[in-house]
Amino acid sequence: MAEQNGLRDRLEAIRDEIRQSVRGMDSSKAAYDLRKSFLDSKKGKIGQLMKEMKNIPAEQRAEYGKSVNELKNWAQERFDELDRSLKEKEMQLRYESEKIDVTMPAVKMRPGNLHPVTLVREELIDIFAGMGFEIFEGSEVENDYYNFTALNTPQDHPARDMQDTFYLSKEFLLRTQTSSGQIHVMENSKPPIKILSPGKVFRSDDDATHSPMFSQMEGLVVDEGITLGDLKGMLDLFVQKIFGEQTTTRLRPSYFPFTEPSVEVDVSCFSCGGAGCSLCKGTGWIEVLGAGVVNRKVLENCGIDPDRYSGFAFGIGLERIAMLRYGIPNIKLLFESDIKVLKQFY
Ligand code: PHE
Repeated sequence: MAEQNGLRDRLEAIRDEIRQSVRGMDSSKAAYDLRKSFLDSKKGKIGQLMKEMKNIPAEQRAEYGKSVNELKNWAQERFDELDRSLKEKEMQLRYESEKIDVTMPAVKMRPGNLHPVTLVREELIDIFAGMGFEIFEGSEVENDYYNFTALNTPQDHPARDMQDTFYLSKEFLLRTQTSSGQIHVMENSKPPIKILSPGKVFRSDDDATHSPMFSQMEGLVVDEGITLGDLKGMLDLFVQKIFGEQTTTRLRPSYFPFTEPSVEVDVSCFSCGGAGCSLCKGTGWIEVLGAGVVNRKVLENCGIDPDRYSGFAFGIGLERIAMLRYGIPNIKLLFESDIKVLKQFY
């Protein structure tokens, strides 16, 4: 009888313990661990009682088994209930936190558009590719030889002052002009050559029409019998495509060490048709690029025979073309990345 009482007390103690600990539960994961600590057939407290069955005297075994089984069933029900209510609560919380208000106004997705300089670059590439030019991508870091010396601009040449240079070291610099690409191309290929080289260039310059970084597009044609007339013919075609059928070009004498003769190329004003307006400052002409016949010395520097071959080269400032094309008054607008400005061009 004393043993029976002892058992009853033990079972009651376990029951109390379960009641107590169930009350404090707030996650189904912890509840699962708690359930195991009682009901696991090997390690659980109730499981343990079941295992003790074999030590109980035969005449008490049935009673013992019955009491422990009752406790086990009761405990299972408690834990099932607990599990159900915790999972429900957790689900509720998830519903709340993942709730979507389908009546909210949609976030406006504005389609992007290309930068005006990119648009101009792609348009120019299209036009020149149509004339058979191939693209050569030069590098932005150059050495003094490719940017100046090979282009007939040795140390102390006054023309070096035309381009205020960012030097990285005594030898290396940020290229001031895509003309450096001419040398790489001519060193590595034989005429006929017809390349277009777009890229960034750098000069220590900063005002409404100059930026320390800007984009150029170099063109180079080398073959037998190439003359300034070929350059003029090609440029007329080019300006007609980009500024309109009625436009034409005018060549003015200029100076670049790597071309002889050298020219500044003007386009007839596409805004007033040549009558004179604010865009062309009343002259009827707008300066668009520098060009010329490749200097014999430059051909020689690259191992090309200047008695057999000749060529022309030109360099176009892409920001300048974009500003003319879209009526942009200040070059800074192209670099400030103000979406209100940029979204106007396409
Ligand atoms: N490299 C010259 C400049 O940046 C432009 C140019 C290119 C002139 C090719 C003549 C021939 O000013």
